Amino acid sequence: MAIYQATASAPVNIACIKYWGKRDTKLILPTNSSLSVTLDQDHLRSTTTSRADPSFEKDRLWLNGSEEEIKDGGRLATCIREMKSLRREVEQKNPNEPKLSSFAVHICSRNNFPTAAGLASSASGFAALVSSLAALYKLPATPSQLSLISRQGSGSACRSLFGGFVAWKMGSASDGSDSLAVEVAPQSHWPDIHALICVVSDDKKGTSSTSGMQRTVETSPLLQHRIKHVVPERMNAISEAILAKDFDTFARITMQDSNQFHAVCLDTDPPIFYMNDVSRAIIALVTEYNRLSVENGGKLKAAYTYDAGPNAVIYAPKENLKEIISMVVKYFPQAEPFKDPFGLFGAQSVGAGSVVSGFNEAVAKPFGVGAVKALIHTRTKYTPIGGQDQSKPLPYDPSTNLE
Ligand code: DP6
Repeated sequence: MAIYQATASAPVNIACIKYWGKRDTKLILPTNSSLSVTLDQDHLRSTTTSRADPSFEKDRLWLNGSEEEIKDGGRLATCIREMKSLRREVEQKNPNEPKLSSFAVHICSRNNFPTAAGLASSASGFAALVSSLAALYKLPATPSQLSLISRQGSGSACRSLFGGFVAWKMGSASDGSDSLAVEVAPQSHWPDIHALICVVSDDKKGTSSTSGMQRTVETSPLLQHRIKHVVPERMNAISEAILAKDFDTFARITMQDSNQFHAVCLDTDPPIFYMNDVSRAIIALVTEYNRLSVENGGKLKAAYTYDAGPNAVIYAPKENLKEIISMVVKYFPQAEPFKDPFGLFGAQSVGAGSVVSGFNEAVAKPFGVGAVKALIHTRTKYTPIGGQDQSKPLPYDPSTNLE
């Protein structure tokens, strides 16, 4: 009996120009274009195995070992339905192909990072789901075509179909056919962009992106200004900065756009707060670090950005990461020794941290252990997304850790 199964993985992406607001909530069509950096799958990824079998009674999905309900008409059901319909086209063209589109699928997905870290996993999760089904169904689809489907799982997931620097073009068609992800530049164009993720502890149950952004669409006058007058220019300017490898401009726009995204959250009625005191202290550190560089005739050396939660992501050229990590550790002591995946600190560890000479230490107060509960040093990296060798099927069992 043939086994029809494929595995694919997909990366996390963190936006520099934020997506916030839908003009169509069912098709997930945004009110503005957005742009992100794809992070290294070695550190953060979702891995998904899909299997089609005539004996399966219905489509089922396990996420990190627990079964998730696939609700009729919900986002998961939509993605699976769209992928089956692309498979049907393949079968119609090649009558010898097995009729996989008529079989139910079992899908098993895992993240290699803890959900409790508060890092959005919907982007990598839906991108991996769509990629594994594309491999299972042997679809001749491009990443942009697949992005049209992962977009319907979670908007930001469309950008995880590419490595490097990725734009989600908002499009104008009412059926969503032109609202897709495109590559602005591959990772190889600007490989030394690194990222430090500061996982900030948070007890509060936050407002989800999905409900928060619609409240913003309904109530924020500032969002209307952002959509019409700010984002289009920023999309052009940051794309040019990426093509020119101009970190100074890239950093300025990234920080401005994060700030404006959190400003439209505050402009929402009732207001939404995603950043907390720790997030704001990290902004103060990065601002002071940049001030010192600029006052000494240099350029911006780091850029912070925040999504719908308190975690900071700091983008910087690799050469600055040692200073940035030392600075963050000085203000936010770590319970666990810093995992140094790029060997920046050599045989010594980061220790108690330090700041560069001339740094005004009064810009933030030091916090206790655990305020920043983990630091993840990663980078932009390209790993081809696609199915693994299907001649060697993986053992299929939802409780098996595929990592
Ligand atoms: C702040 O993609 O999670 O991270 O489309 O409703 O699933 P849905 O929302 P989601 O929103 C992401 C918002 C953001 C900004 C961004 O990634 O561009």
